[in-house]
Amino acid sequence: MKRTKISLTRKTPEQFTGDLLVYCVPQQKNDKAKVVKGIGASELRKAVALGDFKGEEENRLLLYGKGKNKGSANRVLYLGLGKTDKKSKAELFEQCRQAGGRIAAIAKEMKAKNICLCLPEVQGLSAEQSVESLLEGVLLGDYHFDKYKKKDAKKKKYTGISKIAVWSALKEKGLRNGVKRSQRTADAACSARDMANEPGNGWTPANFAAYARSLAKEHGMKCTVLGKAEMKRLKMGGILGVNQGSTEAPKMVVLEYRAKNPKAQTVLLVGKGLTFDSGGVSLKPGAGMQDMKYDMCGGAAAICTMAVVGAEKPDVNVIAIIPATDNMPGGSALKPGDIIKHYSGVTSEIINTDAEGRLILADALAYGIKSYSPDCVVDLATLTGAVISGLGHHRTGLLGNNQPLIERLCVAGESSGEPLWQLPLDKEYVKQIDSDVADIKNTGGPAAGTITAAAYLQKFVGDTPWAHMDIAGTAWDFTKKEYIPKGPSGTGVRTLVAMIRHWKKL
Ligand code: BES
Ligand code: MN
Ligand code: ZN
Repeated sequence: MKRTKISLTRKTPEQFTGDLLVYCVPQQKNDKAKVVKGIGASELRKAVALGDFKGEEENRLLLYGKGKNKGSANRVLYLGLGKTDKKSKAELFEQCRQAGGRIAAIAKEMKAKNICLCLPEVQGLSAEQSVESLLEGVLLGDYHFDKYKKKDAKKKKYTGISKIAVWSALKEKGLRNGVKRSQRTADAACSARDMANEPGNGWTPANFAAYARSLAKEHGMKCTVLGKAEMKRLKMGGILGVNQGSTEAPKMVVLEYRAKNPKAQTVLLVGKGLTFDSGGVSLKPGAGMQDMKYDMCGGAAAICTMAVVGAEKPDVNVIAIIPATDNMPGGSALKPGDIIKHYSGVTSEIINTDAEGRLILADALAYGIKSYSPDCVVDLATLTGAVISGLGHHRTGLLGNNQPLIERLCVAGESSGEPLWQLPLDKEYVKQIDSDVADIKNTGGPAAGTITAAAYLQKFVGDTPWAHMDIAGTAWDFTKKEYIPKGPSGTGVRTLVAMIRHWKKL
């Protein structure tokens, strides 16, 4: 993955000699743009007087020419930031991220590689917070994936922003922290997008294992990978069952971060790492099946969160488990009617082999809880098409057994621009997965598919505080925004990072 160099510059904007110098301009209460001192401020003032530039989100004023009062940059851009009054912190973060995304899009239009950002003063945010969210938006918006394109086509093509100089009138101490945090979260989310963009034959369970090992080495964490033989020994009938029809070896990838504090709480993250979901014997329709390479986005989010955890070393233990396999209809594949036995001993009647996510998650949840006695568990999975019917592509479905944990995730998601929405999990729904021949069955009928899938998972968490994020609608095709490109969004990473960064005893 490309890395953009970011520096806090002591040079003045006048001295910046790169491709694009950007000023973000908030709209004031009186609906007018706030004109701040800077290059081309007299031009901006004219545009403001004419009513052409109000500081609204879609306003932009582009100036050219170097020399006296014009600075040394090839282009100077004034970009509207929108109104900042009467907004919550979360809304202001999102506003800055969106502006950052617009900057990346404009830089792309102009093939600008070397840019300078003049930090706006955003009412309600510290300079540290505004630089963090603005840069996050730029870095997330600047993402592209061209690994599989011809080399010479790449050479001619714009490959994104390579250097960002950040200039601030306020010399706030935390600026450097804001920059670092934005880089870590954006890098992690972009790594998750990279994994998802890889095709099913480019990102396999073995790749999850290798990535976890490399993170462990880089940050001094512990990585354990269970292969098929260990899974058999541990009687993980869920992941083994799903893997049965495949020639690709399954992996249960475990990555542990331990905080220094011996009294630190432990958060367990479990991410669905289904590297391709054909549906198995209950084969999916052909149209759109290629998108099922994205069925590992939960696993990607969990493991990429660990990259930030490893770098920042928070005061909470974090363990990520990724059950990884594909779901294929080979001759030895699981069949409807088969009965499997999970790691926990619970037996399950397979009604539909395409409801495989819950089968691999069930083993991972039970194994993680038994092995690490976490204080809470959060799982992420592209689990059900039904969540798209319910919530569309704008909110992640959220269910669980512990309201304080659910609320933490809602707050973290809101402040990250990855909103969640809670669905109920009453006992009536749980009844839908009762089986006549086994302890439970793996589908609950056509009604309330997202909830019955969560009800299945709940059978494996006991009393441990648990929350489940169904990201089937948001992991790709997520709400259109400038900082969310077409394709996989990397959703979940920034929400989990936000929750972990602010961790307090649950
Ligand atoms: N990975 C899919 C869920 C999915 C569907 C994600 C569409 C994103 C877009 C999951 O494994 C699945 O196939 N679920 C089935 C469950 C059903 C058979 C009970 C579904 O949602 O149709
Ligand atoms: Mn499926
Ligand atoms: Zn699936």
